[in-house]
Amino acid sequence: ERRASDDLAKVAFTPVRPNRRDAVVTAPGFDHEVVMRWGDAVVHGAPAFDAHAQSAEAARMQFGYNCDYVGVHELRDHRKDSKDRALLVVNHEYTDEQIMFPADTYTDREIAEIGLANHGMSVVELRRGLVPGSWRPVTNLRKARYNRRIHHRTEFVMAGPAAGDDRLKTSQDPTGTRVLGTFNNCAGGMTPWGTSLSGEENFNQYFQATGELDARYTEQYARYGIGASGSGRNWHTVEERFDLTAEPHEPHRHGWIVEVDPFSPDEAPVKHTMLGRFKHEGANVIVSKGHAVAYMGDDERGDYLYKFVSAKKVAKGSSATARKRNKKLLTKGTLYVARLTGDGSADGVHDGTGEWIPLCSDTESFVPGMSVADVLIFTRLAADQVTPTKMDRPEDVEPNLVNGKVYAALTNNSQRGSRFEADEANPVTTSMVRSSIGAPLTEASGNRNGYVLEMTADGGDHTRTTFTWDLLLVCGDPEAPETYFGGYDKAEVSPISCPDNVTFDTAGNLWISTDGNALGSNDGIFRVPVAGSERGHVQQFVTMPRGAEACGPLITDRNRSLFFAVQHPGEIDGATFEDQASTWPHTDDFPRPSVVVAFRRR
Ligand code: FEO
Ligand code: CA
Ligand code: CA
Ligand code: CA
Repeated sequence: ERRASDDLAKVAFTPVRPNRRDAVVTAPGFDHEVVMRWGDAVVHGAPAFDAHAQSAEAARMQFGYNCDYVGVHELRDHRKDSKDRALLVVNHEYTDEQIMFPADTYTDREIAEIGLANHGMSVVELRRGLVPGSWRPVTNLRKARYNRRIHHRTEFVMAGPAAGDDRLKTSQDPTGTRVLGTFNNCAGGMTPWGTSLSGEENFNQYFQATGELDARYTEQYARYGIGASGSGRNWHTVEERFDLTAEPHEPHRHGWIVEVDPFSPDEAPVKHTMLGRFKHEGANVIVSKGHAVAYMGDDERGDYLYKFVSAKKVAKGSSATARKRNKKLLTKGTLYVARLTGDGSADGVHDGTGEWIPLCSDTESFVPGMSVADVLIFTRLAADQVTPTKMDRPEDVEPNLVNGKVYAALTNNSQRGSRFEADEANPVTTSMVRSSIGAPLTEASGNRNGYVLEMTADGGDHTRTTFTWDLLLVCGDPEAPETYFGGYDKAEVSPISCPDNVTFDTAGNLWISTDGNALGSNDGIFRVPVAGSERGHVQQFVTMPRGAEACGPLITDRNRSLFFAVQHPGEIDGATFEDQASTWPHTDDFPRPSVVVAFRRR
């Protein structure tokens, strides 16, 4: 039966206190279950996971490492029990080789191969658990026809105006339209037409050079952080395309928004060139005046907020024809970058007006000296020419479908006030931080705790180019003078640091997950009303295990389920597999990144 206390939007809870436990800790009265762990079988034929006997072949059939984005699509098909089923879509952002592999067990080449294979995405069919709000993976994988592991051998189709451009062509793909794999996929979003969008973020790190870098792209590589040494994962020893000297164009084929239709397991996922190329955190769509408007962040210090407005209108309904049309929506339209102007600090609030500056449409460039393809492939360089606002690392940007406002997590920027000048939208140049729980607050340079930015489209129309904005939250310890919680009483809020992903329940409350807590405690997930007398009342709902960031929060199943990803438990400076800095979820003697669902205890 349905109980009011199951509703995560309405239920009162006692906030979880900051802690350093190696556990997922939910607010009292709630439970959680691990849904999928690194190494769990995704497709039929996957071997049982064994950290001491890993292989790339197995990893391509198992749940990948470091889950980040979490989407859950209601499944409606011919089966009678389909309302009790759903499709989970997850990104596997990157790998932590130092805590994935026991020492002296694997060769460098095996580590490179297995690390590469642990990237990508997974689609997993779920069914309801016994307790309302709980969900489990289906166990008969022979019948799990939607289950899918997207990895470095999965073919993607390039779509939109830059597809087929010479600078996307490689010896493997002379057409510039077919790319293998998706890497470093961070956040994402579910579209109104039932697909998932996912952002290719720090893709630059996977490329290395065995010789010279192509001099034609010196400026472009530099702006994207692409260099000869990469992150040292040595993927070029496994696949030559990761060698910049051999394949100078391969990095141009990454850094896009990808779209996956979980209901079409045999269909190639798409890389959308119309949404620009940068370190995409994710993309989230709202339908406005019939058009699909996607909001996006480029997660780098001093980089920008973007939006895309589709040329065509969203086709209504979920018929095959409507879905087919909607899956083309992101190929034509206009790409914009944001400029935020403050109205001065005399009013005591960080707020002002904003403008979306067009960069290009699918047929016309608005940046002098650059073609449409130039703008889309080298979007950062195009945006640099129109003086947008340099933000403090824009992560997840998501429209709230209840109040129509858009919320952006600006996670932090240690160089605000030094390399980057302060402005009203990025005001903090000195932050109060804590080295451990109970330690005194000390001063650190820059913005260490982050903000949540609230943007209001003029006239509620997201296709327009003007908006107003304010900082809903200036995060940190409520005792720190710079913090602000939407005007709420600071004595009543939970400390919060480094917002990363945002989502909403059906009442319009904001839920925030954090990455990189600068207050000495573990990361977590928080609920924050954005309207009425409770606006800004930040309460911590769950804390993460040691070393983990909290990702992909999603409230679903009529506010009964909170899904989230526990990413990189045990990722603590210098820690190795043998150190067991974390062993969460405590099913093995090493940590396993996992997707979790939290729900009301019965
Ligand atoms: Fe992968 Fe911007 O966090
Ligand atoms: Ca102001
Ligand atoms: Ca993130
Ligand atoms: Ca992050």
